[in-house]
Order: sequence, then C-alpha cells, then structure tokens
Amino acid sequence: MSQDIKQGNNGIVVKAVGLKKTYFLDAVAVPALKEVNLEIPKGSFVSITGASGSGKTTFMNILGCLDKPTEGKYILEGTDVSLLTPDRLAEIRNERIGFIFQNFNLLARTSAMENVELPLVYAGVARHERQKKALELLEMMGLKGFETHFPQQLSGGQQQRIAIARALVNSPSIILADEPTGNLDSKTSYEIMNILKRLNEEMGVTIILVTHEHDIAEYAQRIITFKDGLVISDTVNTKKDTL
Ligand SMILES: Nc1ncnc2c1ncn2[C@@H]1O[C@H](COP(=O)(O)OP(=O)(O)OP(=O)(O)O)[C@@H](O)[C@H]1O
Ligand SMILES: [Mg+2]
Repeated sequence: MSQDIKQGNNGIVVKAVGLKKTYFLDAVAVPALKEVNLEIPKGSFVSITGASGSGKTTFMNILGCLDKPTEGKYILEGTDVSLLTPDRLAEIRNERIGFIFQNFNLLARTSAMENVELPLVYAGVARHERQKKALELLEMMGLKGFETHFPQQLSGGQQQRIAIARALVNSPSIILADEPTGNLDSKTSYEIMNILKRLNEEMGVTIILVTHEHDIAEYAQRIITFKDGLVISDTVNTKKDTL
C-alpha cells in the first residue's frame, strides 16, 4: 500500500482522466479509446453499452488492470494505477477486483468450492479460513450441496453463480462483468441480473457491467454508451426500479 501514490478519492472508486488506448496492428494505429473521462462512485451499479468495436472491452481491461492506457490516468480508489509495476498491478487485481466473464472462466478440473477459493489461495489465506468463506458464498448463491461438483457437471447459470461467488470472495472494491449473460438463456440471464442487483442494493457492491442488450443494461442505475472509443451518453436509468 505505502508505495502507491494515494490521492483523495471522496467516495469515487473509479476515475478515468483523459484515458486513451491505441492498438498497433501491422504498424497501423487502431484508436480503441479516444478520450474517456468518467467518475464512478462507490456503491454504483453501472451498465456500459455500445456497438461492437466501440471500446467497451478495452475500457474494462484497463479498469481491471489487465491492460494499461496509452495516455491518461486510471485512478482506482485514489491509487494512480498507471504508475504501478506489473507485480503490484497483479496484487491490486487480486485484492480489489472481482471479474465475471461471458464464458465463466472456471477451472475445469477443479471443484466448485476450490474455484471459489482460488483468489484467497493467491492472497495467502489459510485453508480453514478459505473454505469457510467459500462455503458461505456458495450458500449465498444457492449452491449448497454443489461444493464438490466440477464445472461441466453444472448448468450455465450455476457456473455463473460460482463465478460470482469467486468474484466476491476477496471483498473487492469493484466487480467487473463483461457480457455476464452472453452465454445464458433469457430466464437464467434475469436470475443472474437479479443476483447482481441484490448484491448492489443489499451489500453495496460496486458493479460495472458490459452488455449490448437493453433489458440487461436496465438493471443498472446508470447507463453509459460508447461509440467509436468515446462516451456518447451517460444517463441515470429511471426504469431500474420498475424491474
Ligand atoms: N488486441 C487488439 N489489437 C488490435 N486491435 C484491437 C485489439 N483489441 C481490440 N482492438 C480493436 O479496438 C476496437 C475496440 O475493441 P473492443 O474489443 O474494446 O470493442 P467492444 O466494444 O468490446 O466490442 P464487442 O461488443 O464486439 O465485444 C476495435 O476496433 C477492435 O478491433
Ligand atoms: Mg467486447
């Protein structure tokens, strides 16, 4: 902690300042993010939408410390992440960020319980404590009795609930979900979205979710739309409470 440069964050968990990302493909510059300025307060539930290629995943990869911006700053809870070493970045990723992916990204030959424990293994938490926490979260996700199942023995919705338990196990500052319902049927998608909504409303978990489906985006309090690497709209979602 002490080596990080801390700035006052006033309840802002994610702050992007003049964020730009350019990829180079065969010496051709691809401007994926042209200039993004955003502030996301703690406890928010934000959806990011936009056409394919508009820069959503590029932005999420930066927020998740999986990639660095070409220009600009990303400040996560007052820490300017652009200044950190790769090792420190990996630690921040494990301590402060929970990821949920479209294809669940569970380890195939690993039980439900061990999948959930994994971030705690990296954080050096003792086995007894890990198992206690993993059990608690599996139970919260309605998966009591499935601890020893392997991912391929479970439905898509159950696998995604394991992934949510894994994302929560380190009590992260933010949960990042890139198309978390992309591989699920609509009924299961709504179940997963209701879980995320409850985590946000009842436990104050900050959630940033990418989706290209309107009805999924509308579970959030705030909807941000990207187009060609720019934010073209950023609105409060008035429909949320009617869901
Ligand atoms: N690793 C990469 N190398 C080169 N160009 C890339 C790379 N990743 C993304 N791009 C380009 O950057 C732009 C933004 O891509 P990005 O994946 O962020 O879009 P997206 O909004 O997530 O799209 P989708 O809805 O299809 O997932 C696109 O033009 C894409 O082709
Ligand atoms: Mg994408």
